[in-house]
Amino acid sequence: MTNHRIALIPGDGVGTEVIPPARRILDAVGRRHGIAFACTSFDWSCERYAREGAMMPADGLDRLRGFDAILLGAVGSPEVPDHVSLWGLLIPIRRGFRQYVNLRPIRVFEGLGSPLRTAAPDAVDLVVVRENVEGEYSEIGGRLNRGFPDEIAVQESVFTRAGVTRVLDHAFALAARRGGRLTSATKSNGVVHTMPFWDELVAERGALHPEVTWEREHIDALAAGFVLDPARFDVVVASNLFGDVLSDLAAAIAGSIGIAPSASLNPEREFPSLFEPVHGSAPDIAGRGVANPLGAIWSAALMLDHLGHPDAARDVTDAIAALLAKTDVRTPDLGGSATTAEVTDRLLDLL
Ligand code: NAI
Ligand code: MG
Repeated sequence: MTNHRIALIPGDGVGTEVIPPARRILDAVGRRHGIAFACTSFDWSCERYAREGAMMPADGLDRLRGFDAILLGAVGSPEVPDHVSLWGLLIPIRRGFRQYVNLRPIRVFEGLGSPLRTAAPDAVDLVVVRENVEGEYSEIGGRLNRGFPDEIAVQESVFTRAGVTRVLDHAFALAARRGGRLTSATKSNGVVHTMPFWDELVAERGALHPEVTWEREHIDALAAGFVLDPARFDVVVASNLFGDVLSDLAAAIAGSIGIAPSASLNPEREFPSLFEPVHGSAPDIAGRGVANPLGAIWSAALMLDHLGHPDAARDVTDAIAALLAKTDVRTPDLGGSATTAEVTDRLLDLL
């Protein structure tokens, strides 16, 4: 029996509705593969912020440090500004635990109509590797002359050789294990300092991975390519901002943001990595029991893979594929009428 200590942060809104299903799936697949999960739940959320003035306690990261992984639902509430909820919990975890790789796989499953007629089922199977701790999302900058006509805002992007190199190496290694193809998102024609630097490092790291065919593509053309011919892509590596946008687009191609998973990885394993669905707290549907749990469950599968259980992870993604291909049990975001619990029960049967 392998034991794993998992920190659960359900968060807000539908986050609290999709983590219990993910936990049921983990327990079921764990029983079959001899893995036990000792889960500890943390109530860190916008609700806690309203109550105590902080998304998490001051020693939050220390409390998480000893866990093998973190499984998170979603944070965010209409009552709390989004930059407060994001910078009060998720960004400190990503940065404090050096989770510099953000992995966002997506597949167009058989049985799930993509809104794109160019996205053939089973042909689209790609991963966006997003740089997760630097780039465009930086705290460097400021605002001057607030409220005056000459008010200005400046925000600096930060690209470091070490930071770009390590995420590129991760992406090239992943491409070597998958289809051997990598696309790098750039915009070196418009962003004339950081993006040429990114491109140079892609060429430098690419030379060390001769088994991977790589190309660079400007982010605007790349976004159009996702829509026109998504099956063309395998591993796509991008800076923090570009990767954020591209991965939501990829999720939409798959039919719903409700199924898309993500992993924020600390590849060196000095710190726990974090797994969460791509979607937010969905206040528009929260509390009705109809949130799609598949994004959270697929995220749990990514966690299993990271913890060294690829067979258990494959069982979960195979069950998701079977559910979509062989049944019509699905939540309203996928055009069905099933509840979160009904989808989870059916998935457990298939598992
Ligand atoms: P959202 O992802 O919460 O919702 C976008 C749309 O997708 C909505 O129509 C929603 O109903 C639908 N949706 C999302 N998850 C779903 C699920 N599991 N099943 C079915 N439908 C689902 O994004 P939005 O509305 O921009 O943000 C809401 C809040 O969530 C904000 O406070 C935002 O800051 C936060 N947020 C948090 C994230 C995180 O925790 N990583 C990521 C994105 C947003
Ligand atoms: Mg996003």
